[in-house]
Amino acid sequence: MAKPSSRILGIETSCDETAAAVVEDGRSIRSNIVASQAAEHAAYGGVFPEMASRIHIETIYSVVSEALSAAHAGLEAIDAIAVTRGPGLAGSLVVGMNMAKGLALAAQIPILGVNHLEAHLYSIWLVEDEPEPEFPLLGLIVSGGHTELVLMEDHLKYRRLGGTLDDAAGEAFDKIARLLGLAYPGGPAIQEAAEKGDPEAFKFPRAWLEDSWDFSFSGLKTAVLREVRQQQPELEAGVEAPRPGLPIANIAASFQAAVVEVLVGKTLAAAKEFGAKQIVVAGGVSANQPLREGFEEQSSIPVRTPPLELCTDNAAMTAAVGHQRFNAGQRDALDMDVLPTWPLDGS
Ligand code: KG4
Ligand code: ZN
Repeated sequence: MAKPSSRILGIETSCDETAAAVVEDGRSIRSNIVASQAAEHAAYGGVFPEMASRIHIETIYSVVSEALSAAHAGLEAIDAIAVTRGPGLAGSLVVGMNMAKGLALAAQIPILGVNHLEAHLYSIWLVEDEPEPEFPLLGLIVSGGHTELVLMEDHLKYRRLGGTLDDAAGEAFDKIARLLGLAYPGGPAIQEAAEKGDPEAFKFPRAWLEDSWDFSFSGLKTAVLREVRQQQPELEAGVEAPRPGLPIANIAASFQAAVVEVLVGKTLAAAKEFGAKQIVVAGGVSANQPLREGFEEQSSIPVRTPPLELCTDNAAMTAAVGHQRFNAGQRDALDMDVLPTWPLDGS
């Protein structure tokens, strides 16, 4: 078998997943280990940052070791280490960064800092049996922390068109789920509850924000809150459980329909405006079935979404970016800092 042009170890600790992976040629996953902390954070209804970094510290070594052994690769077989540099929780990013620096120093191999948002877009390149996406492509990154519209004219070249002005799409799902007494993470819980509901039961607002590519979900969140309080005035988010009688399925379905309509509508309009050949929808919320269906039904150009296991945070996508950077001759310094608010713009 031909030697791969690169074999990259990826490390990702930007939020509440401790992850490591080995990827060859930017497309071929040799191992992909993800230790999710979701169960630990569930009690808080969201990610508790101090606990996240503590668990990363406890878990990172075994996750990286497992990724190397599952790929049957020692460090000597790795060409470079790609690590999430930002955006994300500062205390969590530092854990992955320090691990990556230690390994790079020990093995005398390059280290490459990766933007977590570009990594979500590159999850599509890991679908090996499908052709590579075509440029220019329009990326919609929808996760617990971000809602970003990005134009990609070539590898590693990004133009940020817009993003959320308040809550991220996933954050809105998580908050509404909590209000309705559903489990964390809220996205899958809302999707499941919505299956039995009528998406037109409630007319929740859609914030189109004409003349901009930005998004806003705070008005929608307030409208749902107002509806729930009207039905059960004593209900406080996360404090009291909703009583029987609250039309949870209809509220979930109507809320989800409002989010999906705006995400699909604005993305398709931007794709048209900028002449995109394809659309890539990535990040945790891209796992949402009605969102995928909305794009499939309404788009005249191909819409690519990663398989479910690559929608949420993982290090294979980090390594996929690492391959592009490594091949482009990029190298980062061993003393680079994490960038908790790093925007995806430029190259
Ligand atoms: O990309 P990700 O794993 O982590 C971040 O970088 O934030 O995204 C997590 C987010 C959570 O807010 C979760 O509720 C949401 O993705 N999510 C979904 C679905 N699955 C996960 N949202 C809507 N529908 C889903 N099926
Ligand atoms: Zn993410």
